[in-house]
Amino acid sequence: MTTIIVTGAAGFIGSALCRYLRANKIARIIGVDKMTYAASREALAGLKGDPDFTLLEIDICDGAKIIEILTTARPIGIIHLAAETHVDRSIDQPGDFLQANIVGTYALLEMVRQYLRMLPEDKQKQFRFLHVSTDEVYGSLGQSGSFTEDMAYAPNSPYAASKAASDHLARAWHKTFDLPVVISNCSNNYGPFQFPEKLIPLSIMKALGGQKLPIYGKGLNVRDWLYVEDHADALYQIFSRGRVGEKYNVGGASEYRNIDLVQELCALLDEALPQSAHRPHKNLIEFVADRPGHDERYAMDFSKLKKELGWQPRTTLPDGLRKTVAWYLQNRDWCEDIRRRKYGGERLGQTQAAGKS
Ligand SMILES: NC(=O)c1ccc[n+]([C@@H]2O[C@H](COP(=O)([O-])OP(=O)(O)OC[C@H]3O[C@@H](n4cnc5c(N)ncnc54)[C@H](O)[C@@H]3O)[C@@H](O)[C@H]2O)c1
Repeated sequence: MTTIIVTGAAGFIGSALCRYLRANKIARIIGVDKMTYAASREALAGLKGDPDFTLLEIDICDGAKIIEILTTARPIGIIHLAAETHVDRSIDQPGDFLQANIVGTYALLEMVRQYLRMLPEDKQKQFRFLHVSTDEVYGSLGQSGSFTEDMAYAPNSPYAASKAASDHLARAWHKTFDLPVVISNCSNNYGPFQFPEKLIPLSIMKALGGQKLPIYGKGLNVRDWLYVEDHADALYQIFSRGRVGEKYNVGGASEYRNIDLVQELCALLDEALPQSAHRPHKNLIEFVADRPGHDERYAMDFSKLKKELGWQPRTTLPDGLRKTVAWYLQNRDWCEDIRRRKYGGERLGQTQAAGKS
């Protein structure tokens, strides 16, 4: 059986990808994760006892450990998701994002380059490095249009800038060193095990506690949403069949304004919790000061992925939201534990801009 390394395996998307790869018996999986606040062992609990899944607690910046894993496991490729990912935290602590996302990706690319030099040419040719990135690297759209793969990058947050930098490194390592790199850029994901600092799980967690649901600005920012299991499927299709040196956009074809999304969540909670004292949950919505540098609209043109690899999202946003709300209601302990030990739901990312008081 072949082996694939997944970095960021204990994160939201990484764990969904590991579950997908093992459920489909695609390969032996070695998950690599630094186990930051965002990681969750529970998200991988279903793979406990699976002899073909291993989770290693390692920082991707630790080149010595990475090369040791590569030479021991001899994988056919890496799917690289490890990153610091929350925009608001990148406003408070940008240095952490530069370290994990830029230095970390650089370290990984270099170790793979070193490893590939040890392999015969046919094995080098088979290897794939899938660098997983975001739509946020493209910046913000106006009322119309969508991001295409050849669009110039215009990142606006420290998070987006660090991901853009890592995409450029991945591209350069392909162009300069012939590393077999493929890059994917995806829109906003949602689904089970998403850390409750992101909009959907944060809103559900707060609504369950009868707390105010903060919406930045007027809630008119538009995001395109993709159910995480559809993203896992797209990643495997790109990893296994995507063309080396190419970039693929991944999207959900589900553009929603933040206010409409949260109202939809509130309606689903009203329906699921007819006895709740907090009904109607939409009365908990509260508009708060906008996020600095908040992008207005993202939309993905993923026709290249559809045309070349036949991929398209299977889960509609209403269906995916319903499944997600049901999951969070059935797994309230998971959120409660995070709330007690890691993050209580307070506002992040309000650092004052230079010159502003
Ligand atoms: N969540 C989204 O909507 C979305 C959309 C498009 C792309 N992405 C990208 O997908 C990837 C995964 O996102 P996510 O939402 O699952 O993030 P997440 O924050 O839930 O998980 C990230 C994981 O990476 C790990 N990690 C962080 N720094 C590390 C390091 N130095 N070494 C090893 N592990 C480290 C963390 O412990 C965590 O388990 C990221 O690269 C992100 O940029 C996310």
